[in-house]
Amino acid sequence: MRSSLTTLAYALLANAVNGQLDIGSLLSGLGPAPADDPRWTDFHPPGTGDVRSPCPGLNALANHGFIHHDGKNMTLPHLIEGLAAGMNMGADFTVAISGAGLLSSPDPFAGAFDLNDLDMHNFPIEHDASLSRQDAYFGNDYSFYNDNWQQVLNFYDGKTTTDVPTASRAKYARVNDSMTINPTFTYGTREAIFSYGETALYIQSMSDPASGMAQIDYVRSLFEQEKLPFELGWRPSAAPITLQSLGNMVFELFLANPQNVPEGLTITANSYKDAFEAVAGGSNILANLTDGLSTSVGL
Ligand code: HEM
Repeated sequence: MRSSLTTLAYALLANAVNGQLDIGSLLSGLGPAPADDPRWTDFHPPGTGDVRSPCPGLNALANHGFIHHDGKNMTLPHLIEGLAAGMNMGADFTVAISGAGLLSSPDPFAGAFDLNDLDMHNFPIEHDASLSRQDAYFGNDYSFYNDNWQQVLNFYDGKTTTDVPTASRAKYARVNDSMTINPTFTYGTREAIFSYGETALYIQSMSDPASGMAQIDYVRSLFEQEKLPFELGWRPSAAPITLQSLGNMVFELFLANPQNVPEGLTITANSYKDAFEAVAGGSNILANLTDGLSTSVGL
């Protein structure tokens, strides 16, 4: 992460260039909404005309109104604020993944996407062997698909919390299942890193950036109802969930996979961050896509 002075300098520069976005104010004071915020308990599944994505995290945040409930017009400032308010996601993570997300929009440089743009198959983030979605080969690759999810949950049988070794085995079992049944199965570096990242995301968002221990009932609420488990006792992590904390867990999950060699690649703690830059076509393109925000958060 750059020093706050450098960040401010970049913010002023980007602001002077585009004349619109006040990056400095946007990035200051981010964090979870207070405990009495009505959105924690204001849960509404999507209605007619609302759109959702293959991502249980974004869908849950939309169902609570932390991001637009209709699932449309997701700009970066809106996502940075909403993901911080609802899950204490750090701005670096949100900028990196949203930059990639913009690539799935019909007009990536317009600065916004709709949640249903994200189901574009095999690009930029979507992939086979999801934890709770079908592979695109079988049809709908964006809605919750219980059969696959039960494969994951079986690994947690008898446990009340997640742990890194079990999460890693559950994730890799989904890879093996898809590889067996899907003749168009696609799984390389991008897919491996992003799918490890998604396992890190459900663990950290439902617990904290370090312990690896999220309550299973919280995790089930996130996936099965796309609901924040506030009424079950969950509270957003006190510490922000960052690209680095997720990258560290991606590395731990990779090391914990007893079959990491067949994955055919080497993963380090920086791989997660690097994968977002790579999928965008490099840090310069990411900076253009994000209106300078990626530079401001140290990417
Ligand atoms: C702007 C921010 C985000 C974008 C653009 C995004 C995008 C996506 C996309 C496209 C997928 C589908 C990948 C696949 O094919 O399985 C996905 C999956 C996933 N996302 Fe997000 N996501 C974002 C934020 C979050 C957050 C904050 C969480 C926290 C819980 C999260 C958790 C997950 C999980 C757990 C999956 C895996 C679903 C599965 O394998 O069934 N995401 N995300």
